[in-house]
Amino acid sequence: MFYPAIRKVLFQFDAETIHELTIKGLKSTGKSPLNAFYKQTVQDKPITVMGINFPNPVGLAAGLDKNGECINAFDAMGFGFVEVGTVTPRPQAGNDKPRIFRLPKANAVINRMGFNNKGVDYLVSQVQAANFKGILGINIGKNKDTPEENAKDDYLHCMRKVYDLATYITVNISSPNTPGLRSLQYGDALNELLAALKAEQTVLTEKYGKYIPLAVKIAPDLTGDEVKSIAKSLIDNGIDGVIATNTTLSREGVEGLQFGTEQGGLSGQPVKEKSTQVIKFLSEALDNKLPIIGVGGIASSDDANEKLEAGASLVQVYTGFIYQGPPLVKEIVNGL
Ligand SMILES: Cc1cc2nc3c(=O)[nH]c(=O)nc-3n(C[C@H](O)[C@H](O)[C@H](O)COP(=O)(O)O)c2cc1C
Repeated sequence: MFYPAIRKVLFQFDAETIHELTIKGLKSTGKSPLNAFYKQTVQDKPITVMGINFPNPVGLAAGLDKNGECINAFDAMGFGFVEVGTVTPRPQAGNDKPRIFRLPKANAVINRMGFNNKGVDYLVSQVQAANFKGILGINIGKNKDTPEENAKDDYLHCMRKVYDLATYITVNISSPNTPGLRSLQYGDALNELLAALKAEQTVLTEKYGKYIPLAVKIAPDLTGDEVKSIAKSLIDNGIDGVIATNTTLSREGVEGLQFGTEQGGLSGQPVKEKSTQVIKFLSEALDNKLPIIGVGGIASSDDANEKLEAGASLVQVYTGFIYQGPPLVKEIVNGL
């Protein structure tokens, strides 16, 4: 693979410009013979989690393919599952640019995208066009201008729209870039949201004749007690899985680096230990009652194995993939 050479060229440009070009390229080649540029075969490492049979435990994390435009391309790279989104009910522009920053010395990224996406109806059209037979997670969120007290309605709206197309649905309550979103991780707000989503899952199971698992994605910036309390809510409300973790607000590991003080969520190597710690807390508190999907700073098969040893059943990558490209997927899967 020649990704290191390609990366050298790509990294000359602004991060978001490259992101947009890459998405365009992957969108137009995903199902064509041109996907030979990134298509690869990885070993079969089947595993059943949340009642779903995954071909291997390595997934693409949410946020790279926010609109579900490149599902077939990521499938060709060997991912065992692809998570698209975060999608919101209505399209929204996100925060002002620049809003993604690479910190190569720390193998990290800071982003404050703010759920820029084309809205759930567009995502649905893309997923339908992809005609994908693999494992598809659809990650849902709320519009920035929806008041916090109505957040539930946004999640329910998205859930109804994507239910028939998703293999599992992720409820994202942990992005640091939508004001107030993370407050949904605590106490009554969390229990009310989860109860409403669970009730809707029952209605939709009846309507479509199939049970689509719900996973909740949480932040790395939580104390052990907070994780314990979230775990209890997840169990009490019959949630099917938990994804740990999103990006961090901490700036540990990027002190003094260019862009190190930019606002937003920090991902990659600096979030690795925090994420693993949250997985350990979860693993203890959940007592195998629901599975954990581990994400945060995975850049090798050793990193992935660390997450599995901490208690995760599946893993996802984002920042490591930006730095290493498709060869990382193969390295991790084959190294598990
Ligand atoms: C540019 C960027 C955008 C992201 N957008 C989302 C998003 O829309 N929804 C979400 O749940 N997570 C999002 N994430 C978080 C990742 O899915 C992942 O949880 C986090 O980056 C930690 O994993 P990593 O260290 O492998 O990147 C985003 C991350 C980055 C770097």
